[in-house]
Amino acid sequence: KYVYQNLREALKRKLAPIAWNLLQEAGKTAAEMGYNVYTAGGIVRDALLGVESLDVDLVVEGNGILLARALSEKSGAFLRVHEKFGTAEICFPNGLQIDVATARVEFYEYPAALPEVESSSLKQDLYRRDFTINAMAVILGEERFGDLIDPFDGRDDLYKGLVRVLHNLSFVEDPTRILRALRFEQRYHMRIEQQTLSLLRRAVKDGMLERVSVERLWEELKHIMAENNPVKILQRLAEVEAWQYIFPGIEYWDIQPVLSNLPEAIALLKEHGQPEPEPWLPYWLSILHRSQPAMAENLCQRYNLSKRQSVMTRQIVEMLPDIVKLLQNKKIKLSEAADILLSVPVEAYALLLSLLPGDYQEHFLNLLEAMQTNKPCIGGEEIKKLGYRPGPIYKQVLDALRRARLDGQINSTEDEIVFVKEFLRECKDFKKGV
Ligand code: CTP
Repeated sequence: KYVYQNLREALKRKLAPIAWNLLQEAGKTAAEMGYNVYTAGGIVRDALLGVESLDVDLVVEGNGILLARALSEKSGAFLRVHEKFGTAEICFPNGLQIDVATARVEFYEYPAALPEVESSSLKQDLYRRDFTINAMAVILGEERFGDLIDPFDGRDDLYKGLVRVLHNLSFVEDPTRILRALRFEQRYHMRIEQQTLSLLRRAVKDGMLERVSVERLWEELKHIMAENNPVKILQRLAEVEAWQYIFPGIEYWDIQPVLSNLPEAIALLKEHGQPEPEPWLPYWLSILHRSQPAMAENLCQRYNLSKRQSVMTRQIVEMLPDIVKLLQNKKIKLSEAADILLSVPVEAYALLLSLLPGDYQEHFLNLLEAMQTNKPCIGGEEIKKLGYRPGPIYKQVLDALRRARLDGQINSTEDEIVFVKEFLRECKDFKKGV
């Protein structure tokens, strides 16, 4: 059944030059040290699929930390060591990170009826992984550089489009794999293999997701919400009944219509030059937007969101219905609509857009555009040059200026200067500075 394949060219094509050089250097250095080194996991899967891969993982039969140290010294990259786990990260200034692990050789507590996995520590390491498609490796030693090692037929599954676990206890051993299975299934348009799907459903039913640390669950959840199209993955979470463990108290099908509009709304905002928030945030806000404030607060605490993110979530839960209503009033002035929008965190714009009926969506986008193109030309610095002492009044005058600009009351820098002078003259308690 074994079909030889060499991935040298596939890896070279898809890796940044710096990562490619490091793979070659790793092979040479490991040989000098008497070790075997491989690259494994996502990078091999993606090379076979012909897609870009950012992560590089090395597995060493030998001392992974010593190899990582030698490589970081040769390349001048920064090294971070985790003695306890026998792992290290080589960090390059451009952000590239190479994870180096020592091949794991521990035995499972349960019987693993796969005699060949005992033959080498690499195979044991691969056997501990989540899915066959992620349990392949490539030899980096010079003589056989690029040769594929695929003890569990991951390549077959990859081409058949199947996400398959390596053993029956995979989801029990690591329940975050429930989320990972759905993520890979949707990302690569694959299917979860039948037996794997029953194991996954059983693990969900047995409450395995309650046993995972919230930190790990959150990491996986953030990965999902940062995928190209998270909606289908979130829906699959609901279909396999995992949703209620992750967002207890929120009914998936209640928020589904809004969620399904979200990717388009995010794309539209990007086209309109809006700043891009952290990718998971618009999804998070959309999932929570119909919750009671106390429930939203609980979920923020559960996933340990930052103060800013929790405040933002609360704000959305509390004000969103009113804001959606206000923005559907065609009679309000541009400046009034802008004031409303400015009171909403930009991270929630996509949600807002998804909630508005079709014709108001266009209004919304026009308003954003108007806010950008009609910005005042002068700012605090210019007002200071006019001789006014800085203070809280600056914000008032600048806000007034912004509104006047948006409503077309003033149209030039000269007008703006006149406006500022007038405004400040009218403020009785304001004295001109020296
Ligand atoms: N892995 C695993 N079980 C997990 C997480 C990871 O077995 N719960 C293994 C898989 O072999 C995976 C590798 O560790 O390929 C690296 O994990 P990670 O970087 O999270 O995933 P990638 O496969 O690289 O996927 P992505 O493209 O999403 O980064």
